[in-house]
Amino acid sequence: MSTPHIKLFIPGPVEVSEKTFRAMCAPMIGHRGSEFKKLYAGIQPRLQTLFGTTRPVFLSTSSAWGVMEGSIRNLTTKKVLNAACGAFSDKWVDVSKRCGKEAVALQVAWGEAIKPEMVREKLAEGGFDTFTLIHNETSCGVRNPLPEIAAVLREFPEVMFVVDSVSSFSTQPIPMDELGIDVLLTGSQKALAMPPGLALFAVSERAMKRAESISDRGYYFDFVEFAKNQEQDMTPSTPVIPLINALESKLDDIFTEGVEARHARHAALNAQVHDWVRARGFEFFAPEGYRSLSLTCVKNNRDIDVAAWIKRLREKHRFVIDGGYGKIKGKTFRISNMGDETSATIAELLAALDDTLE
Ligand SMILES: Cc1ncc(COP(=O)(O)O)c(C=O)c1O
Repeated sequence: MSTPHIKLFIPGPVEVSEKTFRAMCAPMIGHRGSEFKKLYAGIQPRLQTLFGTTRPVFLSTSSAWGVMEGSIRNLTTKKVLNAACGAFSDKWVDVSKRCGKEAVALQVAWGEAIKPEMVREKLAEGGFDTFTLIHNETSCGVRNPLPEIAAVLREFPEVMFVVDSVSSFSTQPIPMDELGIDVLLTGSQKALAMPPGLALFAVSERAMKRAESISDRGYYFDFVEFAKNQEQDMTPSTPVIPLINALESKLDDIFTEGVEARHARHAALNAQVHDWVRARGFEFFAPEGYRSLSLTCVKNNRDIDVAAWIKRLREKHRFVIDGGYGKIKGKTFRISNMGDETSATIAELLAALDDTLE
């Protein structure tokens, strides 16, 4: 354990608090015993509040991709439309195909948002029974207009609406039931500020019925298995108990702060980063009105050596930001404001960015 502590301001994993790590060190318990069932049942109401649902919230010992792939396997019999506007959403098209499904990309350029009218036009072509959307495309800092897209989906009742909230969950309201979302999923290592390895998701009643009618949905991500085990406050297979302990601790933090206050804090910290971006003469990669609230993807319009800058930042201040994802590496950089950050810690980061910029 000689690695020095480098504080993460990358868009996931993010910094994990000592309190969260301590929660993970609780003595091990059996996952079919009463202690686990108590832990599992105890966190449900608060998870349901965060998900905006009366449906159970399932815990998957996997990263988000497990549930993203699982959603396709559990729901698609005809054809899936994958909204694609960045690295993760582009990959969902490929993953759908690898599941042996007919998949169509609703493709826009990286940095652009998926617009409701595009979704309507494509779904109106017919034959689709599943639509996937990444709410907050982490690779380019685009926040897609979820309520407006949800309204379009209500015009196509045969289409299941799967929403990835991996990098937006708990930073803003995402009322699953009200929006008519069929699967809402997220992961532990983004705004929940936990280590990676746990995915959380909820499934609507009608999506559960669809899953029941599909025969080749596999085992590990079978929604019906999750539901069956849920009835006894358990997971289908041995779960990552330390992360579930961490989740309980994190829910204590979230509800002590207050959910609305947490949303307001993320918005304020995001605005603080945006002010810095403007003041330093940088531009945003995503257009106004479609910018993420949990991270900022900055265009490198000043043509700086991003990699060298981040190296200086890491060596001098022991902070790290992200130097751009995939094909926009170096042309952009990303700053996260997810998790437990405060205006003081963001100010500290911004001062360190200034100190190492030139
Ligand atoms: C929006 C989004 N979806 C999905 C993923 C994939 O998550 P994981 O690698 O944890 O499965 C990521 C990872 O950063 C992401 O940002």
